[in-house]
Amino acid sequence: MADTSYMARKSVADIVGSAEAEGSRALSKSLGATSITAMGIGAIIGAGIFVLTGTAAAQFAGPSIILSFVLGGIACAFVGLCYSELAAMLPVCGSSYTYTYATLGEIFAWIIGWDLILEYAMGAATVAVGWSGYIVSLLHNAGINIPPHLAAAPGTVIKLADGTTATGVVNLPAIFIIAVLTTMLVLGTKESARLNNVMVAIKLTVVVAFIALGVFFIKSANWHPFIPANTGQFGNFGMSGILRGSAVVFFAFIGFDAVSTAAQEAKRPQRDMPIGILGSLIICTVLYILVAGVLTGLVPYADLNVPDPIAKGVDAIGLTWFSVLIKIGALTGLTTVILVLLYGQSRIFFTMSEDGLLPPLFARVHPRLHTPHRSQIMIGTIVAIVAALTPIGVLGEMVSIGTLFAFILVCGAVIYLRRSDSEASRPFRAPGVPIVPILGILFCLLLMAGLPLVTWVRLVVWLVIGMTIYLSYGRNHSKLRFPERQ
Ligand code: ALA
Repeated sequence: MADTSYMARKSVADIVGSAEAEGSRALSKSLGATSITAMGIGAIIGAGIFVLTGTAAAQFAGPSIILSFVLGGIACAFVGLCYSELAAMLPVCGSSYTYTYATLGEIFAWIIGWDLILEYAMGAATVAVGWSGYIVSLLHNAGINIPPHLAAAPGTVIKLADGTTATGVVNLPAIFIIAVLTTMLVLGTKESARLNNVMVAIKLTVVVAFIALGVFFIKSANWHPFIPANTGQFGNFGMSGILRGSAVVFFAFIGFDAVSTAAQEAKRPQRDMPIGILGSLIICTVLYILVAGVLTGLVPYADLNVPDPIAKGVDAIGLTWFSVLIKIGALTGLTTVILVLLYGQSRIFFTMSEDGLLPPLFARVHPRLHTPHRSQIMIGTIVAIVAALTPIGVLGEMVSIGTLFAFILVCGAVIYLRRSDSEASRPFRAPGVPIVPILGILFCLLLMAGLPLVTWVRLVVWLVIGMTIYLSYGRNHSKLRFPERQ
């Protein structure tokens, strides 16, 4: 008898069984720990470090943005351990959506799937806005000037070099990059592991070079005061500023969870998954802390609220050629992140559609191209509209709160499954359960507490919209609850 309650859950054995069947059919187990770590770094380093570090230092934390990164890294370490356990245990696509279906049941799985739109689709929009900032700056170096009001969201006030200001109307470069990448994804130009490795190498080289060169030009005066005094408002410098800063730069860590979707293709998931997830996290955290230190040492933090703060840091060194290289590296890095996020979004919708929670359109694959073309085009269109019209700060905060919420459910899932499915095989066991997942939950809540009330309200509105869609569509079409209707 099918379980028709909203709490109906998939069994761990079924998920693993279907993954194995599918895995042996379609996917080759070719990825080793190094490729998986590279994939993680490819998905992680993006607008968070290239753009939001500057915004967050200027507006919230000053040089103590360094501590914000430490806090974000600690939270992600706990969550990363939990992800590693689930990724090795349930090696399937769909990420936390699938984990939740197996633990907390359908209604929570829907909530997570809906919430992941914030991480993936809104994340892609955020990074596209970051891409726009860097391309405008690079083209300026080449003597081509994009009118500033055509490269910013409506209402954004842009300071111009001559001291005057302009007000944004629409972000055309953001639309452009999303259109190009969506076309590539529709045509099936998936980044091969090798291309990804090359792009990751470029991105890493640029970041390491920035640290290695920049360190010699630091003016330690820029680090004083290290924690600027609070202005009297929560989140504006002082301790609460560090907290808000880490909630914002948390965006920079997003992506390590995308590694979990490669579990079916790992040679030895039990070993490679934890190494890939935790290895990429550790490397990125160290780099972030160093970049934040160098950047705030090069430029007074108040001047960092620009679309291309790292390039501004390089300008302070005075090496024009290096500034151009940095911009090219940043653009490469941002492109891979957008690609992974747009791709990931269509695959999550695909899984949700196969489960009956979304219309069949999202699981329809083009007969020749073998890609979910309609879904990909719809996603691209919506992401482009959002990126064209929304400032990066608002987008980034929405992505952070949505992802933190998803991470809390993942930590909860680890505790739950240890009890409900204690016999299931766990090739990797997170240490110290339930302490580690509980700490993960607490740290995520702490970071969420650092976000402004308006972001919380937006999250609640978003979840209410999602719930309305579930009640009017998904609950009646769920294949798990109504197998006879298939
Ligand atoms: N972590 C990714 C970035 O910073 C999403 O762009």
